[in-house]
Amino acid sequence: MMNKHFVLATSLVLSMLLTAIPFCSSSTTSKRYHFNVEWKNITRLCSRKAILTVNGEYPGPTIAVNEGDDVEIKVTNGVSINTTIHWHGIKQLRTGWADGPAYVTQCPIKPGRSYTYKFTVTGQRGTLWWHAHIAWQRATVYGAIIIYPHLPYPFAAPIEAEIPIIFGEWWNLPVEGIEDEMYKYGSGPNSSDAYTINGLPGSLYPCSVQDTFIKTVERGKIYMLRIINAALNDELFFAIANHTLTVVEADASYTKPFDTEAIMITPGQTYTVILNTNQHTHDSNGLFLMAARPYLTSVFPFDNSTTIGFLKYKGTMDEHMVLPKASNLVLPHHLPRMEDHAYATQFVRKLRSLGTTRYPCVVPKTIDKRVVIAISLNLQNCPPNQRCKGYNGKRFAASMNNQSFVRPMTSILEWHYKNFSSMQYSIDFPLQPPSVFDYTGVDPLTHNLNPNFGTKLFVVEYGTQLEIVLQDTSFLNLENHPIHVHGHNFFIVGRGFGNFNVEKDTAGYNLVDPPERNTVGVPMGGWATIRINANNPGVWFIHCHLEEHTSWGLATGFIVKDGSEPYQRLISPPDDLPRC
Ligand code: C2O
Repeated sequence: MMNKHFVLATSLVLSMLLTAIPFCSSSTTSKRYHFNVEWKNITRLCSRKAILTVNGEYPGPTIAVNEGDDVEIKVTNGVSINTTIHWHGIKQLRTGWADGPAYVTQCPIKPGRSYTYKFTVTGQRGTLWWHAHIAWQRATVYGAIIIYPHLPYPFAAPIEAEIPIIFGEWWNLPVEGIEDEMYKYGSGPNSSDAYTINGLPGSLYPCSVQDTFIKTVERGKIYMLRIINAALNDELFFAIANHTLTVVEADASYTKPFDTEAIMITPGQTYTVILNTNQHTHDSNGLFLMAARPYLTSVFPFDNSTTIGFLKYKGTMDEHMVLPKASNLVLPHHLPRMEDHAYATQFVRKLRSLGTTRYPCVVPKTIDKRVVIAISLNLQNCPPNQRCKGYNGKRFAASMNNQSFVRPMTSILEWHYKNFSSMQYSIDFPLQPPSVFDYTGVDPLTHNLNPNFGTKLFVVEYGTQLEIVLQDTSFLNLENHPIHVHGHNFFIVGRGFGNFNVEKDTAGYNLVDPPERNTVGVPMGGWATIRINANNPGVWFIHCHLEEHTSWGLATGFIVKDGSEPYQRLISPPDDLPRC
């Protein structure tokens, strides 16, 4: 199928990129959307299946708002299974009811029901995204959030156009049952069959020539790439042949601009990148290949394939030009190898907050509380009379400080708000690993602590300057874990390899211009320290954004108590909040 001819101007690509138009905007400060969760039959990689979508779109509609806007998104569940949507990276100041993770801030939206998520977008600008936050629905239920700034961009403009680059992962088989299977057998998930750019796998996969992302650009202009990693289980490298990328913003916070030949992006992360179309081309070579492939830090089976797309310089080829055969394609030479840890490390080291008077870096310089969290994958003995499909006939699990998180059958936020003393969760999450050992040096298979299962969170007072040290362990496998915190941005003040050492490592913290984000890649076999100004009352999920690890329990949560002033308190729950 690889030599199948292909016409460049495809309406499919165009229609897919159309931004959803808000159906009502009564004033410039209020944006409303209606999301209908529904099945849609689509064909990828030679097979047709029904996927969950929003409004039949894959990827879903773009939410485009201005800084300061009030946003209302009515989500109607038009399918026969429960759903929820999370606005990833939106701080949800006092509006935790609208955050979205199932059983943490809300009960799921039941079939046939609707729930309207209401929040205000403040103090953030750039690229974020939204996704389903229940089971594995986010495999196909996701889309971009774009926040336009009040003030002009603090980097090169004018921008000729914006180009969404949303990475995803595609399974030929249905994904909806994967998590249930994992619970039942303690197994790992099947690897995906393809990576995608804007829902399109690209011509290196079977039957996919027509499903290749192609963007026509003009030479000598500046474009803005809005890059989102919506893949479930894989960090990705991305590069465009012959072009340099300038990173200007990460997770909707401006960065000091820096040039790079490739980026590494973990699931959950977003970047805004500036691209200068400055290549001189002749008639035949105005086509530049873009490619993404995994950054590999796992010994588990994984999808080692590559998704590609193209930038096409306008006027260099006629509109009906044929895409080169797969065998003639050359990947960008600066796309890092899958095991290029050095590249991944030097890339994240370049990230710095912009830190100007207008956009100050408000990192907490001192702290009130330090929490150290050891991140582990675990093996559990198989209970009698059960079938277990994890390694060596055991069950896989994952934990933070040896606690494997179990989502309760109720909304933790609601129970917290109503002051219910609860059997559903407790607030005794251990603030240190239960024992001190050589976290990154022990034998991966024999030092597996059987984790405890439960719903444990920790509590902080309003306004706590909180430090969390995230420590990788070598249980089963050293791995890069993208840890995501809901409800707050944080500052990555330090990172390193081996075991965190409080005397030595705190001295090396960057308290001047550390990057501000919502998802941090904890280095494989190392640690990362984040600082949070915990000024958002509510219940906030903390979890690995690798979906297989979240399913295994690699999560916890923290509760920020109300402050004393009215504006420091969680708002009251909306009337239409779903019931369990
Ligand atoms: Cu992007 Cu808890 O998620």
